[in-house]
Amino acid sequence: MTGLQTVPVALGERSYDVAIGTGLIAQAGKHCAPFFKRPRTVIVTDETVAGLHLSALQAGLSAGGIESEAVIVPAGEGSKSWPVLERVTEALLAAQVERDDLVIACGGGVIGDLAGFAAAILRRGVGFIQIPTSLLAQVDSSVGGKTGINSPLGKNLIGAFHQPRHVLIDIDVLDTLSGREFLAGYGEVVKYGLLGDADFFEWLETAGPRLRDGDKALRIEAVRRSVAAKAGIVSRDETERGERALLNLGHTFGHALEAATGYSDRLLHGEGVSIGTGLAFDLGARLGLCAQETPSRVAEHFALMGLKRTLADIPGDLPDADALIALMAQDKKVVGGVPAFIVPRAIGDTFVSRDVPPEAVRDVIDAALAGR
Ligand code: GLY
Repeated sequence: MTGLQTVPVALGERSYDVAIGTGLIAQAGKHCAPFFKRPRTVIVTDETVAGLHLSALQAGLSAGGIESEAVIVPAGEGSKSWPVLERVTEALLAAQVERDDLVIACGGGVIGDLAGFAAAILRRGVGFIQIPTSLLAQVDSSVGGKTGINSPLGKNLIGAFHQPRHVLIDIDVLDTLSGREFLAGYGEVVKYGLLGDADFFEWLETAGPRLRDGDKALRIEAVRRSVAAKAGIVSRDETERGERALLNLGHTFGHALEAATGYSDRLLHGEGVSIGTGLAFDLGARLGLCAQETPSRVAEHFALMGLKRTLADIPGDLPDADALIALMAQDKKVVGGVPAFIVPRAIGDTFVSRDVPPEAVRDVIDAALAGR
């Protein structure tokens, strides 16, 4: 076992720790027992994760004296829906989950968001523990309390802030991810360096290939630094009134691309974010805010890692610039029809702008479409 790291998320009475290490699922009972008033829980997971980790998790809980049962939903974004939410909440009630019990969300971002939202509304709020199993969920969605489901009108439009009581991150589970899934999560890791920590980006420029190829100590360090960055931002701006919006670097472009590709396997969320991040740096350079060579340095690292970087990396047809811009206007962070962009001034220095000239956005998209 590689040393356990703990990152606190400081939110007053809603504070919690994120524990990061190896072998933690096998020791889930020991790590989670202190949070339970009575030693029973319901695990919400999906079919893929259940096949890989459910029996180990149940054995780990049981070794710590915690009985468990599981609610298993189909894998994929489609489970962030009203029908699946209804099924999960009814199953939790049928399992007699009470106000003082804790639900466990074990899976990627979809499961964390779905189970967290079910916990938020069940009996007007029960606690939950996050055991994230994708890199994306480990470094982003399991920390910070955003929970919710999608509407036919857009992603994450129905939800609640509901902080977990604890987050248990077992780095070993990353071994079960495909290379593509791992890289999609890595797009969110590199985001923390790009949005606010140039030293972290520089560290990733060297350590990235080795952590991608399986180095556990480097993976723990990358996850720890990412979680620490997120914890800092969330503790200063829990409900996204200001600084937390920086976590959306690349997301305005990325969400439009996800919508344009039908939220399908053509483009994973993290891939949309990495392409969107590349476009955000192009935008910063086009606006004259960041040096012309900065987007190339970002692109070089993305290429080294094998990350998607531009529209040419998306297979199949894409709509034209007008349609992509219209999709951006549907983003949930639109205010008065104006989308927000996180604009870079440099690597590690970004800000939220609501007055990016629409022609600059169009130029960036036109150039990227012309490169396909
Ligand atoms: N994933 C962005 C946030 O948690 O605010």
